[in-house]
Amino acid sequence: MPTRRPTRRTILAAFCLAGLSLAACEKKAEDKPAEPKAGATGTPAPKLRVGFSQIGAESDWRRANTESIKGEAAKRGVELVFADAQQKQENQIKALRSFIQQKVDVIAFSPVVETGWEPVLKEVKEAGIPVILTDRAVDVSDPNLFVTFIGADFVEEGRRAANWVVKATGGKAMVAELQGTPGSAPAIDRKKGFEEVIKAHPDIKVIKSQSGEFTRAKGKEVMETFLKSSEGASINVLYAHNDDMALGAIQAIEEAGRKPGVDIKIVSIDAVRAAFEAMVAGKLNCTVECNPLLGPQLFDAVEALAAKKPVEKRIVTKEGVFEQAQAAEAIKTRQY
Ligand code: AHR
Repeated sequence: MPTRRPTRRTILAAFCLAGLSLAACEKKAEDKPAEPKAGATGTPAPKLRVGFSQIGAESDWRRANTESIKGEAAKRGVELVFADAQQKQENQIKALRSFIQQKVDVIAFSPVVETGWEPVLKEVKEAGIPVILTDRAVDVSDPNLFVTFIGADFVEEGRRAANWVVKATGGKAMVAELQGTPGSAPAIDRKKGFEEVIKAHPDIKVIKSQSGEFTRAKGKEVMETFLKSSEGASINVLYAHNDDMALGAIQAIEEAGRKPGVDIKIVSIDAVRAAFEAMVAGKLNCTVECNPLLGPQLFDAVEALAAKKPVEKRIVTKEGVFEQAQAAEAIKTRQY
């Protein structure tokens, strides 16, 4: 018996199961021409087509995420229509509209910021195309505008970073914070989780906080201004919302004649290979893991939709915390 590949029609049915109104689904289904029966005439079954809008390539994390998604699509024989938004929401919105035009089977994207998605997601829903969010969430009033959100719990990551600061400083620290992209879910949530924990420790004070836009260059630049400010000399902890900004800040700290990891203890988020190298060199103290290898979970969800299987509304990735003492051993098996 020839195996049938999932078709747009079967995915549509699954999206109906996942929450799209039945009437809308039926209407969309009627609008569609019948699909050719795979294998019946010897013609190959159509490939599943997924449109993916990526934020950009701002960090090692993001590059690993892109590789994971492209690699997994290739492995499973899924046609991936990939668009790089270069950090701009307007480019992501254009990409989503172009995926509608191209009649892809599923749209997936990692939203650069949380808000402003409602109109375009309504257009996608009207076109009957299921949406999967990966990595970052959106702030919308109608949860049926997407099928599932696959990614880390950013609030928990912020809590983990703060718990490490409490443990490493005995509850007394002058903290500089490098935030991620303004308005992005990880910047909002990692700040929130961190503040939630330090509220109970009045001697931990965040004395500087600014965006370093998740990049090394900006992380370095902002850290330089922190160190040159009137409070610069009293900073003894750096909390960076990602490793890349921490790595940029390490350079700024060294150039200012201070010892990163010693004079200024550093905790950041992602756990990319370069962060492990910095820990082995004694310049970074702790990294909280945020797993970018979302390709397998994304395409599991795509295939589940195609097979009319239910997909959970929220799929949280499992992550750990790595300290300097574990770095030399852990780096040997690091995949990104
Ligand atoms: O959304 C995940 C965040 O985006 C990562 O922590 C950061 O490195 C990336 O750019």
